[in-house]
This record gives sequence, C-alpha cells and structure tokens, in this order.
Amino acid sequence: MKNKLLLCLLATPLTALAQQHQETWLNDDWLFSRNQTEWQNVSVPHDWAIAGPFDKKWDLQRVAIVQNGEKEATEKSGRSGALPWIGEGHYKRTINIPKDCKHAELVFDGAMAEPTVYLNGQKAGYWAYGYNTFRVDITPYMKAGENLLEVHLQNVEESSRWYPGAGIYRPVKLVTSGKDWIDPWKTFIRTRSIQQGQAVVDITVGTGSEQHEKQLFAITICDAAGKMVAEGRNTLNANGEAEMTFTISQPQLWTPETPYLYTARIQYLKKGKVLDDTTQKFGIRTVKCSKEGGFQLNGVSRKIKGVCLHHDLGPLGAAINKSALIRQIKTMKEMGCDAIRTSHNMPSQMQMDLCDSLGMMVMAESFDMWVYPKCKNGYARFYNDWWEKDITNLVLAHRNHPAIVMWSIGNEIPEQGNKAKGPTMAKAMQDLCHALDNTRPVTQGMDRVDEAVNYGFASVMDVPGYNYRLPKYKLYYDKLPQGFLLGSETTSTVSSRGVYKFPVQIKDNSQYASWSPGYVPGAVLKEDGQCSSYDVEHCSWSNLPDDDWVMQDDLPWVIGEFVWTGYDYLGEPTPYDEYWPSRSSYFGICDLAGLPKDRYYLYRSRWNKQQHTIHLLPHWSFGPERIGQVTPVYCYTDYPTGELFINGKSQGKITKNPAERLDRYRLRWNNTIYEPGEVKVVVYDANGQKAGEKTIRTAGAPAQLAFDTWTAYGQNLKADGNDLAFVTISLTDAQGVMIPEADDQLDFEVTGAGTFEAVCNGDATSLESFKQPTMKLFKGQLVVVVRGAKTPGMATLKVTDKKLGISRSIQIKVKS
Ligand code: GAL
Repeated sequence: MKNKLLLCLLATPLTALAQQHQETWLNDDWLFSRNQTEWQNVSVPHDWAIAGPFDKKWDLQRVAIVQNGEKEATEKSGRSGALPWIGEGHYKRTINIPKDCKHAELVFDGAMAEPTVYLNGQKAGYWAYGYNTFRVDITPYMKAGENLLEVHLQNVEESSRWYPGAGIYRPVKLVTSGKDWIDPWKTFIRTRSIQQGQAVVDITVGTGSEQHEKQLFAITICDAAGKMVAEGRNTLNANGEAEMTFTISQPQLWTPETPYLYTARIQYLKKGKVLDDTTQKFGIRTVKCSKEGGFQLNGVSRKIKGVCLHHDLGPLGAAINKSALIRQIKTMKEMGCDAIRTSHNMPSQMQMDLCDSLGMMVMAESFDMWVYPKCKNGYARFYNDWWEKDITNLVLAHRNHPAIVMWSIGNEIPEQGNKAKGPTMAKAMQDLCHALDNTRPVTQGMDRVDEAVNYGFASVMDVPGYNYRLPKYKLYYDKLPQGFLLGSETTSTVSSRGVYKFPVQIKDNSQYASWSPGYVPGAVLKEDGQCSSYDVEHCSWSNLPDDDWVMQDDLPWVIGEFVWTGYDYLGEPTPYDEYWPSRSSYFGICDLAGLPKDRYYLYRSRWNKQQHTIHLLPHWSFGPERIGQVTPVYCYTDYPTGELFINGKSQGKITKNPAERLDRYRLRWNNTIYEPGEVKVVVYDANGQKAGEKTIRTAGAPAQLAFDTWTAYGQNLKADGNDLAFVTISLTDAQGVMIPEADDQLDFEVTGAGTFEAVCNGDATSLESFKQPTMKLFKGQLVVVVRGAKTPGMATLKVTDKKLGISRSIQIKVKS
C-alpha cells in the first residue's frame, strides 16, 4: 500500500519521460498598447478599460431594448458600463520553447474580443467569441528558444448588453510536449452509476498525436488523501482513445455540501516508457431531471437555490482573480446558495475549478443571442460559422467539472418566435451537447414562453427554463411533456445598499422608462439614481423574491431558480437606463463592491438551513426630518414570529402570514414611527419559544474608521503577486455604530509588501475611478482591494478621512 500511496502523490512519473511535458502560465512580462506606439508593462489577466475614466461617450447607444418591451429608440448612456472598452488592443511578449519540444500550444481561457494570435509574425490562430476558451497549435510557427507572441484584440461598439471587459482578461497557458502527447480535451470522466456502496466510473483518454502500435494508457485513481483506490490500463482504439471502467467502493460523493474530489493520474506509455503524463481532478456524482424526482443529484431530489452571475468582478473589471472568485463563491454559499448560472456566456476554468473544490453547482451558459441580434454587433455576427465550434470548446474544456450540472445553449433567444427554424436550431445545439457529453441535461432561459411552447421550441429541451413569467408556469407545465420546469432566471428585484425610500411602495419602476405604458415624463430626472433597499422594487417584466418562493414552495414540479443576480455588475443600469450618471446594475443581492444588501439576508433566511438569520432594516439613524414619520421596519428571519420594540415600547408581535404577498417570508411592521434610539426584535420559534433577538441603534457623531479584512487563505496574503485582501471600511461613531449616510472622501495609501489594487463603494452613480486611491464612502462604507507582493513582508494600508482629520492603518502579513 505504501507504494500505491506514492504512486498517486508523486508529481513526476516513476519511469523516465521521453520529453518533459511542461505547462507555463504566461502571466507576466507582457507589453500592452492601444495604438502600437506607446507600450506599457502589464500582467495578464488584464482589463484595459476598468481604470476608466467613466464617460457616457464611450458606448452611447440610441437603441430600443427589445427584450425589455421597448419599441422606440432612446439614449442609453451606461448600458455597457461607460468605460473605454471599445477599440483595439495589442499585447506582446516572448515565450521560450525548449529544444526538444515537438508540439506546443497556447491555451487562452478567453480574450475580449476577436483575438488573433501571431507567433514570430505569422498568424497562428483566431477566435471570434471573447468568452470562450480556445487552443492555438503553434508547432508550425515555433523555433527553439525565444519566440515572439503577439495578440491582437478588437471590440466593436454595440456588441454587448453589459460591460464585457477588454483585453486578455483570463489566463493564458503555454503547453509544450514531445512527439507523443495526451490531448486533455479527450479526457472524459463520468459516473455511470452509484449503487450499494459502489460507484462505476467510465474514463476516456486519448492522444493528440499520431498513434503507434504498442502504445497504451494507464490510469490510477486516488482519493483526496492521495490513496490509490483503483487502477487500470488499456490500448488505444482507432480514434487514438482508450476506454476504461473503474469500480470504486464506498465512494465519497460530490455535492455542494461535500465537494469531494478524486484525482485520475493518466499516463501515456510505450513499452514501459512514459510518453506523457497528466492528472485530472473529478467528482463522483450523477445528475438527472425527471417528472418523478425533479432535479436529482446522486439520486436525491433538491431544488436549486441559484444565482445568475455576470463575469465581471466589480472594481477589478473582467480581469479574473482567484481570491476575488473565492470571495464571491463563499459569500454566496454562506447565504445558502448552491448554484451559479454563468449568464450569459462561457465560464473560466478558474471559476469552475473553484466551484468544484468549494462546492457550487453550475449551469454553464453559452450565448445571449443566435442569428437574430439583440444588439447591433453582438454574437449574431458569428453564430452561423461559430456555434458548433463554440459549443464544442465549452463542453470539451469543462465536462470534467463535477460542479457543472447542466449546459445552457442560450438566454432569451429571439428564435423562440421563429416557428420554422427555432426548434430545429435548439435541437441541433442540444444534440451537439449530448454528443460531446451524454451525462448532463441541456437547458436555456426562455422568456417568449407563448411562442416557445406553441411552436415546439420549449418541448425540445431536456430542461425547460423559464425567465420570469410566473403566472404562466402552471399553464405551460400542463402543456409541456417534460413534467417539470426550472426558473432559469427569476426576480430582477432592484435595490441600492443602504438606501431607503419613503413612503414604502411596491412598484415596478416602469414610470422611469420612456417606452413603458406607465411612463411618467420627467420622473426619472427627479430621482437620485438609486433604488430602495426595502426590496419592494422590481422591473415591469419581473417580480419580488417572495413571488418566486411561492412557486418554489407550492409547485412540486418547479425544480429551482437562478435569481437575477447574485452581485451587481457593470452596465445594464435598469431602471435607470435613461439616467446619467448610472453605469452599473441594481439587481445584485450584493452590491458591486461585494457587500451584502438587505436582500442578502432575505435569501439567507430562506436558503441557509445551517444557521439562523435575524436581520433588521432600515438603519435607525435618520435625520430630524424623519422624526415622527412612518418608517416601516422589516425583519428578515427564518423564525416565524417576532415582536418589535422601539425604545423599549412594543410595536406588536406578528407571525408570518402565507395569505399575504409580502408577509409569508418577511416580518413587517408597516406603521412604525421613527424616533432616534434603539430598535429591537425578539424572535420566536414555531413552538412559541424565544429563539433570539437583534438590536440596532441610532449612530452618534462620526468618530472612527472601522476595518474588516477578508482574505482567501486564513489571516494572511500569499506572496504570489496574485492574492488580494478585501478591506471593508466603515465610518462609525465612538461605539462602533456605522454612520449610514456618511459620504466622506477617503484617501488610501498602500506601502510595504503590497500595492493598492482597486476601490469600490457600490454606488451605481459614482464616476470615481476604481483604480485611483481615493473615493467617497457610499452609505457609510466602501471596500479597498490590496494586492500582496511576490515577496513576503508586511503590507500596510493607510486610510485618511481629511474632513474628520482622522486616519488609520492596518497591516496585512504577506507570507510565502
Ligand atoms: C433578462 C435578461 C438578463 C437581464 C435581465 C434584467 O431578461 O435575461 O440578461 O437583462 O433581464 O432584468
């Protein structure tokens, strides 16, 4: 057994490799230019547009947003983020090819957009879609030693409905090998069955090079501790592939709650000599959707508690970063969320690796449009020539991720209304997914549900996904053959962190949109570009979280939901599409800085079954103008009953009421009157026993800066140059109560083993750059991002509030 253990743990093979397979991340030493005259040193992942400046001129669009129901074109200023992402970008660096290398390729995980790749001046590759991963075989153009790699990118105007980012925003890898090499995209590991304490796992592996006689593949499967649990070997078939089946006893199954990963070590051999050698992580789990059981993971039915996420990371832009992704996923998990829909495009490998290891299911999406364009220069330009290549790369690159539980071929695709072609197109795309991966169901988010159902478009899909349209759920469940449906996109409730508007009114915001029948001319101009955090505002096509939960709870055949959205994102500032300045969304459960809005606790109170939630809103620090005014108090809690006290005086004991739209999942005191002091809620469980309490207080005079530091790995930053600390800074009174209306300008300085990376306050109307070390607090808070250096030491962040004449520093250890 000792030897078996060693087999799995050793990174280098026991037998000699003919030529060392090498994988090199091309992160540093890039030169970047917009005009090929001035060049700057950059590291990849890189987003050239995120530093701004914000300006409405960058992608000013005079358009009608058809899917929002608009018929007349109007000016949309912040639709794609009001950042300078349009135009060309050039990147170059040298790469080193080892002398004995016989095959080399570059793996791009996405580059925005239309990347053309040159090696030593010769065109080596191109990909049209900025979101997809692609491989470039550079063998014909390479020479031993130094080679010049150049990448040209171009972004055209009106090609996106949101901020797409710009540049080589995801990692690039150089893979060099000898004459015989394993093709990683031929590796396909899937769980055939899990029964009576045994899992049957099928594995296909294959060579990318020409196959010869006497070649074979050997596979060793190890558990998470490195202990070998199965092994096998087989010769190659006519396709250069080897098939093997393994039985694993007492398997540890992958679920979001138990994200257990095995490792397959794959060796490509000839007469005992190792030609190539690689490893692939995988999870043992099955996925199924059926009329009888709905969505089932490992045979256990569960309703998906998901969020839709755009790819940008707020103030970091589209430039991907592991620590930022860990923060995103962990914050969602702590809310009780178990799934992400990568709306509306292909995810990165890094995000999927993290979803595997942290435990997050994924609907991996592909397109926001097919042939019919949703914006003038969108993916529709490429669809006919590229959809097969794009789906192929999505599925082949990602099919070994246990996290991915379904593929999505599109979002609100206008071809739903094309009776003649729509269903055939959907079927062809789904068939291609099935051909490349027979283990996962395929879905898409449909909004034109009448046409989708009546034209046979929805019935084609493995999983019919509905975007919004709750009143139609029952009708179409009855009409469709599948026997279940998914809320592929739900809610679109809008709010701004810390903003409370009075009187509290449930409304659909359509009065701001000039195309809407409910439009009130000039209404939007009287507004402040913010939405109320009482969580009662939604879009005219959507609804409140509570409305979706009624469907999820009362209709057994609804298999779950993906809320629009987990985080605010850059661009699409609905309902303020026609308001300037407004350049990012209001849909998020968390704001653009990643700070939870009140809505976070509403979802947590329902989704997190491990921990209780008792959250009160609004804050209780209003100015004199609110004294004596009706100021409703809401409590988001999983407990059924609560009694509210203002300055010790009971405001009544109330119990959730399933008969009322907003009282089934929230506790609301609608007639409470504001007076400074203390608000306390005491909550009771279903047996009427006191279960907990929560108090909020009116803040005194601003006195100090409070810091709350988040890092991905314990207390410290890793000294790898990529690790980020997220420091939430709040202005508080002397007792530590946050000043909720504070908007002081803060200045930042990072010294020692770190650098200032970015800052964000979550205000969708702010035009301050994310990349300048100064920003106003928004509703008392903001988040500063500090990048750890490559060498160990101490990073110091100093924050100064000149108005108050105070400053404070914290130190973050950067460890090797
Ligand atoms: C949906 C669409 C999303 C987003 C959302 C806003 O219809 O799929 O991409 O635009 O509306 O509510």
